[in-house]
Amino acid sequence: MLATESLWFRYQDEPVLKGVSLDFSRHSVTGLVGANGCGKSTLFMNLSGILKPQKGAVLWQGKPLDYSKRGLLALRQQVTTVFQDPEQQIFYTDIDSDIAFALRNLGIDEAEIARRVEEALTLVDAHAFRHQPIQCLSHGQKKRVAIAGALVLQAKYLLLDEPTAGLDPSGRMQMIEIIRRIVAQGNHVVISSHDIDLIYEVSDAVYVLNHGEVLAEGTPEAVFSRHACIQQAGLTQPWLVKLHLELGLPLCKNEADFFARMRATYIQEAS
Ligand SMILES: Nc1ncnc2c1ncn2[C@@H]1O[C@H](COP(=O)(O)OP(=O)(O)OP(=O)(O)O)[C@@H](O)[C@H]1O
Ligand SMILES: [Mg+2]
Repeated sequence: MLATESLWFRYQDEPVLKGVSLDFSRHSVTGLVGANGCGKSTLFMNLSGILKPQKGAVLWQGKPLDYSKRGLLALRQQVTTVFQDPEQQIFYTDIDSDIAFALRNLGIDEAEIARRVEEALTLVDAHAFRHQPIQCLSHGQKKRVAIAGALVLQAKYLLLDEPTAGLDPSGRMQMIEIIRRIVAQGNHVVISSHDIDLIYEVSDAVYVLNHGEVLAEGTPEAVFSRHACIQQAGLTQPWLVKLHLELGLPLCKNEADFFARMRATYIQEAS
């Protein structure tokens, strides 16, 4: 179980997170949305034990998180974070060593490391630049390396802070596939993104954060249908929700479903 209980956090005087209670274990994919500065990345850093709340707690396996070296090591074997800025988690100049780093620390055997690295590089489509020094990569390429570095750990919870920011459309589609694979393996994903259509498509449940507080929570269909609330949070509704609310078209979960429904309804009617 990974959750927060009335968690308060401040860097200086002003609180950034104001008593948030969130549960990430109830659903396979939990989406987090909110305007710039509402506290999403701060929350991820609390969940990974990098920052410690001043009040309330991060709950891990039903208990308040143990911040000792041993406790954090145990947490990080099961909870892996891809931070918003890939520079924050790249330590080596060569990609293979960087991705394998955490696995070597865990003492996993070299044949298994090679297998997992190969698989992760394929998932993020990084083979074409695999042998370039990391410092020479573009932002999107670095992001792919950071995602691969998290995937090899096969953690119970993968926390993705803006995973598609800076990725091209094919990188975005690969991210959706990666999330589906992780879920199929029985693991959990927590994802924050400004890509509202992505969050709508991949999430089973959504939290809307506004100035460090939870403004709404529920299924993506229910949460994103609340126009005034979404506006108050400084967000917009997903295009599939707008089509449903504005034109009365069926509410579909993704583009493929939508076109299939439209084809079945309108092309049949026309013929
Ligand atoms: N290291 C820091 N020291 C002081 N204040 C900080 C620090 N990091 C973030 N903040 C402040 O905390 C608030 C929340 O920032 P945070 O990065 O968590 O927001 P966010 O929701 O991730 O935003 P974005 O959508 O831009 O990524 C902001 O007001 C920010 O200025
Ligand atoms: Mg952020």
